[in-house]
Amino acid sequence: MIGLCARHILSVYGAVQKISRPARRKAQKSPCAGLRGVACGARLCYHGYIASHKNALSRPGQGGTGPRAVFRREKRRNGGNDMSEAGAQSAAAPRKKRVFSGIQPTGVFTLGNYVGAVRNWPKLQDEYECIYSVVDEHAITVRQDPAALRRQTRETAALLLASGISPEKSVVFVQSHVPAHAQLSWVLSCFCPFGDLTRMHQFKEKSAKHPEDINGGLLTYPILMAADILLYQTDLVPIGIDQKQHLELARNIAQRFNGVYSPTFTMPDGYIPQVGAKVMSLQEPEKKMSKSDANENAVVRMLDTPDAILRKFKRAVTDSDGCVRAGADKPGVTNLMSIYGVLTGKSFADIEREFDGRGYGEFKQAVAQTVVDALRPIQQEYARLLADRGYLDGVLAEGAVRAGAIARRTLAKVYKKIGFLQL
Ligand code: TYM
Repeated sequence: MIGLCARHILSVYGAVQKISRPARRKAQKSPCAGLRGVACGARLCYHGYIASHKNALSRPGQGGTGPRAVFRREKRRNGGNDMSEAGAQSAAAPRKKRVFSGIQPTGVFTLGNYVGAVRNWPKLQDEYECIYSVVDEHAITVRQDPAALRRQTRETAALLLASGISPEKSVVFVQSHVPAHAQLSWVLSCFCPFGDLTRMHQFKEKSAKHPEDINGGLLTYPILMAADILLYQTDLVPIGIDQKQHLELARNIAQRFNGVYSPTFTMPDGYIPQVGAKVMSLQEPEKKMSKSDANENAVVRMLDTPDAILRKFKRAVTDSDGCVRAGADKPGVTNLMSIYGVLTGKSFADIEREFDGRGYGEFKQAVAQTVVDALRPIQQEYARLLADRGYLDGVLAEGAVRAGAIARRTLAKVYKKIGFLQL
């Protein structure tokens, strides 16, 4: 298996962790180490937990695919004890490096979520042990309709699978199905200064947006996110740039805890794409494209029809100069170029050449058609998965069992270190 190519990622915190030791030493001497990946061609080959679970997942039509059946089967496999850690990697077996990421089930996710994060998740699943979560606990910092939250949680999971995440390779689960997230979050909150939380950009933005409900969860949300990441001894976190500050906080908390006790948590690195890490609103290109934008023309959603996508791009705000060129003075055009570039693999220079002398009309049409073509197979697979609720729930139930086994191990370690009585 081949390490990640530096040209394709910007690993914010020392991509050197992803590569072999001699290459790492060499990289650490470079002044750029820690900012640029240097892993082209580096070998990573581990065999662990995921491999041992290959083919363990029930498929539609094989019977016993309901969530309860999966729980019962896992319980039998674990010797009747659903708190057992059987199924987690054995102590002796070396494990693949681990990836964790999450997405909130607060509606159909956007092209921004896809381009900035989710698109990268399936790419990592052969090389890493990947754990992906639908983070419903995070979603309730803003009031949610209970029935809608339940429905959107399933839909988000289906959309992740349709985007290429294979439950045979990756663990996919719902955050609230693994109680260790909330449990570790409490412990970590005692290792996080209050001031660090009030400094978070998202706290400031969200509390300005919802002045009527600035609840404690909005403030402590990054601690829960730290718990998500640290529970799994995560090496790499594929996210968009808006989550970078939260990841930094998770690293600070880990460092503090490790310093007070002994090394307990793995230090996670960010995996943030060089292009597309922040897809902007189509109507206000200085603002991030956001699921909750009230202006539907500003947001492309994963389940939008081709007509809606073509219309939204046609109306996208650009500028009056008519030239397809990237630059800080052209946020609208640069945003469209980023989307087009990520989905076609073309560089900005290629795109400028391709549309030299052609107007914005043709350019917008090409971007829209590329998005339609990229989303079509995902939308088809999504419809198929959503129609098979037994299978989907089975995937999530098995995911929770597998995630829970890993999470409980870390939690037990933490409880022991801080001095909680164990009987
Ligand atoms: P969420 O649900 O807001 O977004 C999910 C992922 O999509 C990325 N993203 C974007 N990327 C590019 N352009 C955009 N316009 C854009 N909008 C969103 C986000 O950066 C994110 O990677 N707190 C997280 C969820 C979370 C999490 C975690 C992530 C909870 N625990 C642990 C990683 C690890 C969130 O609200 O993401």
